[in-house]
Amino acid sequence: MAILLNNQTGESQPWADALAGYLPELDIHVYPNIPNADDIEYAVVWHHPHGDLLNYPNLKAILVLGAGMDHIDQESQLPNVPIVRLVDPSVNDEMSQYVLYWVMHFQRNYERYRAQAAAKFWQRHMTPLSRQFRVSVVGAGPIGQFISKRLALNGFASQSWSRSERTIDNVESFYGDQGLLTILKSSDVLVNCLPLNRATRHFLDHQKLSMLPKGSSLINISRGAVLDDRALLNLLDSGHIANAALDTFTEEPLAKTSDYWQRDNVYITPHMSGSTYPTLACEVIANNIKRIENGEQPFPIYMPENKL
Ligand code: GLV
Repeated sequence: MAILLNNQTGESQPWADALAGYLPELDIHVYPNIPNADDIEYAVVWHHPHGDLLNYPNLKAILVLGAGMDHIDQESQLPNVPIVRLVDPSVNDEMSQYVLYWVMHFQRNYERYRAQAAAKFWQRHMTPLSRQFRVSVVGAGPIGQFISKRLALNGFASQSWSRSERTIDNVESFYGDQGLLTILKSSDVLVNCLPLNRATRHFLDHQKLSMLPKGSSLINISRGAVLDDRALLNLLDSGHIANAALDTFTEEPLAKTSDYWQRDNVYITPHMSGSTYPTLACEVIANNIKRIENGEQPFPIYMPENKL
């Protein structure tokens, strides 16, 4: 019994080493050095070459080693085995902290105080009350839900939107087309947590973004292509959207020629809002493998729906 491991966009060896620490009894083969395809029972992958996962006749499960599932949605055919998402508590923590940081930055107008301090100018301004400051997370997957709960715990008016109805403790939940209109019109900060798939490419287009109240802010931590960049730039330039904190982009790294670099009201970070650490993530992955070996269900299982 063996594991195929492939972190296609980065280094695989640190993952293989970390996983070996939790599953010392299993052989771990780093792709493409797979001595015998028949031995592979688990594939632990990130952006694996298209179609290759069909080559392992004894595969029991595919376990993903990051949060996004867009690379899985790009596969036209996958073996008929469970696909297991990675829900890594440290990624949830980091991403919610990233959101909180920018929410507070915008709510409390720290940029203005920075400019005042540069001019040695002492003046206090009123801050909107947190419990009236509406922060809306669109996308209520595992990360979106976690962030909404953290925002509520920190005293913000936390709102969430998903396609179908969901209940999240202490969060005002909206769903469906009508719910989207309502939440967009009532957001001081909009946080994009939607996955990228066929249904969400350019989902946040000019029409939707212009429904946000004038002076609102946007935070994007999922995938750049969910946003229509041109629409966002126009709304930032007209002042309709006051600020954008962007961690993800349609093309990464962000091109030096991107218009986003030119804007004072755009805060660019290089896809760092939540880092996946092999030692922490491999514990979660190893526990799911142990669960399958014990005849239990791994979780959470992913059902590809809207292929890219
Ligand atoms: C990073 O963006 C991830 O999906 O893990």
